[in-house]
Amino acid sequence: MNILAVESSCDETSVAVVKDGKEVLSHVVLSQIDIHQVFGGVVPEIASRNHVVHMTRVFEQAIKDSKLSIDDIDLVAVTEGPGLIGSLLVGINAATAFAFAHGKKIIGVNHLIGHIYASNIEHELKFPAIALLVSGGHTELLYINDHMDIKMLGTTLDDAVGEAYDKVGRTLGLPYPGGPVIDKLSTLGKDTYDLPRPYMEQHGFNFSFSGLKSAVINVVHNETQRGNDIRVNDMCASFQASVVDVLVAKTKKAIETYDVKQLIVAGGVAANKGLRKALNENIKDLEILVPSIEYCTDNAAMIGVAAYFKFKKEGAHPDYLLGGVSTIPFEIMEEE
Ligand code: KG4
Ligand code: ZN
Repeated sequence: MNILAVESSCDETSVAVVKDGKEVLSHVVLSQIDIHQVFGGVVPEIASRNHVVHMTRVFEQAIKDSKLSIDDIDLVAVTEGPGLIGSLLVGINAATAFAFAHGKKIIGVNHLIGHIYASNIEHELKFPAIALLVSGGHTELLYINDHMDIKMLGTTLDDAVGEAYDKVGRTLGLPYPGGPVIDKLSTLGKDTYDLPRPYMEQHGFNFSFSGLKSAVINVVHNETQRGNDIRVNDMCASFQASVVDVLVAKTKKAIETYDVKQLIVAGGVAANKGLRKALNENIKDLEILVPSIEYCTDNAAMIGVAAYFKFKKEGAHPDYLLGGVSTIPFEIMEEE
C-alpha cells in the first residue's frame, strides 16, 4: 500500500511517499528555519504563507522522487493536528484537493502519533511499549498497548521541553532553535551552575520545565547586573544535565512500573545526544528505539507510517471532509 503523506503543522513543509507503513520511497522536507531565525521563533502567519508558496512544489518533488505514478498512490494522509492552525490548514487543504482531484481516499493523522511511528521506519515497533515524546510543543510519557491504543501517563504542566530549550537558547543569545545548539555547546562545558532538577515526585509522571527555564533566566540577569559574563558552554551543560536527569528518571520509573517490550523515544528533542547517551547508560535490558535525526524532527514520512496502521484499524474517512483539527488524542492511564 502506497501512502502519500503531508505534514505542515509548524514550519516544515513536507511530503513523503511511504510503502506499507515502513519503506520510505520519497521524502521531501523544506525547512523554514532560516526565515524564522531572525524573529527568534516561529511566526505562525509567516509559516502559513510559506507553506502556501512551497506546497505544490514539494508535492511534485515527492511524487517524482518516489518513481511512482499518481495511479500507484492508494491513500492520502495528512497531519490534522495538533499544530499551528494556519499551517495545518494549508496541508489539509492541499492533501484534500489532491485526493479529491485524483479520486483517492484520505486519512487524518495526529502529529504526536506520527512522531511515535517514526521509529517503525528503521526499526520494528513491538507492543506494549512506553514512549517518551519530547518536542517543541509536547512532553509526554505514554503507554502504548497496541497499534493506535495509547494512554497518557504524564505530560508537562507548563513548558514543553523543546520550548524550554528554545527559550533558554534565546536568553543566552543563541540562534533559533536553541535545542541543537545547546546540545552541541554542552559538550564543551561542565555542569557547574547549580540549577534545580524538577523531579516533581508528587506529580507522578508529569513534568514541569518552566521553573528550570526561569532559573537560567535569573542567573543570567543577576550575573549581567553584576557585570559578570555568563559561561555559556557551562550554562548549556548545566541546563541539559538537569533536563536529561529528569527525563531519564521519569522514563525509568515508567518502564519499571509497566511491563513493556520497548522504549520508543520520539520528537525533535529525541535528537539530543545527551539524552540518547543517558537513556542508553541508564536503561539496560530493554530495547530503546530512537529514530535517526531526519525522522526525529517534523517530517511527512512518519505521518505516512502512522497512516498505514490507522487505516488498517479504522479505514479512511468516507468523504473528503476530515474531522477537523485534533488536539492531544490520549486518554489518561488509570493508576494500577
Ligand atoms: O518535533 P519537532 O521538530 O517539532 C515539534 O513538533 O515541536 O521539535 C522541535 C524541537 C525544537 O524545540 C528544537 O529546539 C528541539 O526540537 N530540538 C532539540 C534538538 N534538536 C531539535 N532539542 C534538544 N537537543 C537537540 N539536539
Ligand atoms: Zn513535531
